[in-house]
Amino acid sequence: MAIIVSEKNVKKNQISDKSFKKIIFDQLNLPTTDIIFEKYVMSRDDLINLKAEADQCVWLMLLEGSAESSIDIIKGGSTLFLPPQKVLDLQPNDHCIFLKLTVNNFKKHSKDKGTNLETVHYDYLKEPVLNSEHDKRSRVYLASKELIKNSAFVSEIVTFPSQVKSSNHCHYDVEHFQFLLQGEGIVFLDNTPVKITKGDFVYKLDGEYHHVHNTGEDPLIFVEFFIPGIWETIWSDESKRCAWNPTGQNSLGTEPTRDIKSHISDGKIVEGV
Ligand SMILES: [Fe+2]
Repeated sequence: MAIIVSEKNVKKNQISDKSFKKIIFDQLNLPTTDIIFEKYVMSRDDLINLKAEADQCVWLMLLEGSAESSIDIIKGGSTLFLPPQKVLDLQPNDHCIFLKLTVNNFKKHSKDKGTNLETVHYDYLKEPVLNSEHDKRSRVYLASKELIKNSAFVSEIVTFPSQVKSSNHCHYDVEHFQFLLQGEGIVFLDNTPVKITKGDFVYKLDGEYHHVHNTGEDPLIFVEFFIPGIWETIWSDESKRCAWNPTGQNSLGTEPTRDIKSHISDGKIVEGV
């Protein structure tokens, strides 16, 4: 059965009087995992020192506030990727809240070992919004081969309007999890219904069938991850494979920063995604 962690039950790890982090998932939850998933709540008094070690990469998504850094101002929909051996200091302007993913064994997961990777900063609010062909879900990529220039992992933010349900499926050869940013609903895990709500982290096991139903009135929004960024997906009903079509807009309702063609999302690298 999937591992489910509620953020509200995770103890605060104080960084200072005013700043703390919560380690939502790491090897204490699953000894074989290569990921560390954390939430940081930082005050302006504390510098944030991001560091990817020799065989690690680090990814960050700003949820609230803003910060100064040597490469850019981190604000709004800021998303950052640090390849191995890169460091970046962030100085919160007032406060800032962000999610952080650390991936260990980077070389094992990335199929692009020879490239000289750089730190990347992008604004996911300006990235293209894609609509699901079979239901009313929408998604935006938070990390992809095109965005981070390697295939160590893939991430998306997915929105389910009220009462919308996704197609039942499972994956192999991948670490796969979701973290609910907003809303509530039911995740079906090998057809067993489990209630989920904002702040819940759901880590699916290889071969475990899953889909989500937004049973609430408000949109259900989660971020999800696949490590590595190439994997196998099996659909219960092949005719309902997740197919995504561009809307021609970004999350702000304006022209997106790039074009993504219609594609099936099933763990294969798609050109331009
Ligand atoms: Fe999945």
